Amino acid sequence: MPYEHGGSHAFPNLPGLLDSVGNTPVVRLDNLTMCGEGRLVAKLESANPGGSVKDRAAWHIIRDAEERGLIRRGATIIESSSGNFGIALAMIGASRGYRVIAIVDPKISAVNRSLFAAFGAEVIVVDEKDDSGSYHKTRIAYANRLHREIPGSFRPDQCFNPLNGEAHYQSTARELLAAMGSRLSAVVCTVSTGGQLGGISRYLRRFAPHVKVVGVDVRGSTVFGGEAHGYLTPGVGLSWTPDNLDDLSAVDEVYLLSDEDVFVSCRTLVRAEGVLAGVSTGAALLVACRLAMKASAREHIAFLATDRGERYLQTAFDERWLLEHGMSTDTSLDGLRRRAASLTPFSTNPKVDCANYRRELAEQLDSPTARRTLRRAG
Ligand SMILES: Cc1ncc(COP(=O)(O)O)c(C=O)c1O
Repeated sequence: MPYEHGGSHAFPNLPGLLDSVGNTPVVRLDNLTMCGEGRLVAKLESANPGGSVKDRAAWHIIRDAEERGLIRRGATIIESSSGNFGIALAMIGASRGYRVIAIVDPKISAVNRSLFAAFGAEVIVVDEKDDSGSYHKTRIAYANRLHREIPGSFRPDQCFNPLNGEAHYQSTARELLAAMGSRLSAVVCTVSTGGQLGGISRYLRRFAPHVKVVGVDVRGSTVFGGEAHGYLTPGVGLSWTPDNLDDLSAVDEVYLLSDEDVFVSCRTLVRAEGVLAGVSTGAALLVACRLAMKASAREHIAFLATDRGERYLQTAFDERWLLEHGMSTDTSLDGLRRRAASLTPFSTNPKVDCANYRRELAEQLDSPTARRTLRRAG
């Protein structure tokens, strides 16, 4: 019989596991930039208990559902995620007594499959591609169907649920500004569901409008428009502009990177600074480095190191895998700085250039968030 409240009686001053989500370290990086250039600062989201930034949104959404009585111990949580959001839910499910079913696609890594199994979460693989050649829409539609079939189940709905962005508005952005104050001159975020970039950009526009906010996507994804094609970078990308990123005027600049840029950068980060982070962190780092190289020594450029690098030991950190996929294995500081120097923004006016919204999609895919919104409107 698990303790319902007994734990806090026994140890009145100790936090529970989920109290350790957020308040991650903010550290200075000394080796990638030169004297006189801007300073690089990393927020180490790998310090979250589930190992990634996604713990924040997952716990914010589940805690909200618990508080509103939408979910009870023993209930089933169903989500479309092959990666960190699903792993965060699996961790929360184990801690709070929920069954978790992750709807994944064949691109899921062996490590993530093992992590789901370790936490006791179930996995369903959807192998039908959608009209954009990715699996996002077919996975979401499947998750929504299953949600309707399993009574009392809960769908966090990370792609359409505004609580995803709100988690970062209330925690990540606030923590960054509290740690850095007026020294913070720019923040760089990668994008998929838009939770991070949407929440952080809205917060900074309101409370620190002088801070430049920069979004990063990978070529082939069309969050900011552009040409759709396959890509290898995990964690980043979507085939439309997500609703969590509904105010593109809060984003100053947008960059699109190649897979090679991203993989080379995450490998260089660990060699040069000792920060073992995941692939998408390489994307944010490269753009942050480009900004720092053009900034003055007083300016601090922050980026999120979004997950643990151990998850990529069989891919990004395996030279054979990289060579098989036609990518450079270079980890030199000069190489990274040359790549950073050659970057140009995809847009310096994303509100005008980049909107690729699909407002009808939430309803088409039968998103529970859309249903709740429609019920409220009706
Ligand atoms: C490692 C990593 N980086 C970046 C992102 C993008 O974050 P968001 O979905 O908040 O846009 C994700 C999303 O899954 C991720 O797992």
